[in-house]
Amino acid sequence: MKLYEFRNRKGKEKIIMLTAYDYQIAKILDEEVIDMILVGDSLGMVMQGYADTKSVTMEDMLYHTRAVARGVKKTPIIVDMPLNSDSTIEDALRNAKSFLDAGAHGVKIEGNKTKVIKALISDGIPVMGHIGLLPQTALSYRVRGKAPKDAQKILQDAVQLDKLGVFTMVLESIPEGLAKQITKAVDAPTIGIGAGKHCDGQVLVINDMLGLDLTFSPKYVKRYANLNQIIKKAVEDFRQEVRGGEYPNYEHTYH
Ligand code: KIV
Repeated sequence: MKLYEFRNRKGKEKIIMLTAYDYQIAKILDEEVIDMILVGDSLGMVMQGYADTKSVTMEDMLYHTRAVARGVKKTPIIVDMPLNSDSTIEDALRNAKSFLDAGAHGVKIEGNKTKVIKALISDGIPVMGHIGLLPQTALSYRVRGKAPKDAQKILQDAVQLDKLGVFTMVLESIPEGLAKQITKAVDAPTIGIGAGKHCDGQVLVINDMLGLDLTFSPKYVKRYANLNQIIKKAVEDFRQEVRGGEYPNYEHTYH
């Protein structure tokens, strides 16, 4: 599927996107019917333990993109351009192409970087926009677009990205009324994270929706599983069985 065909999904079936950073999770997601896999630079937090996405490098993103690509046969893979990888048109083109070589089908760019986005799209590289809260440059994670002036700027950015021809755009942490207004104003499908139900699709960080780190709980995260508890229980059972001599038993031993 050509990523630009997502523009035809507007107002039809909701678009489903989840992040993946490794081979095994990517393989599971590829067996499920989701529309896109995002190798997000959120890997800085959930894979590397940093406080934010600012330290993530091209090398980190390429490593995880290759791992994800090995697990995926059919689902389009989108990769975040990390901080400073798209500072100039030349850098953006070179780095985006290295993601395509690593198995990605498109890239996501944070913010309204008109010249860079225009150059990538003209060169045939599909771009997903990202507006609202921009973690690469944000000093805080508060909701954006509450004040009328900020809302106006985000709406203008959305319209501009739409005109440039992004195939979809992420709306992060904005009030649902603003997300609704943007979704109506643009032809590109909007994909919300903390932007309410009126978006054309939704994305979550897989570790958040699986409940791996219970200390991270922004309002928009719904936990569809509690893997933290499941993992702890499995580790406890293993510990008890090894100490109690129950594992390995006859069945799990070579004879
Ligand atoms: O890095 C990421 O996972 C993202 C999503 C939150 C959209 O950008």
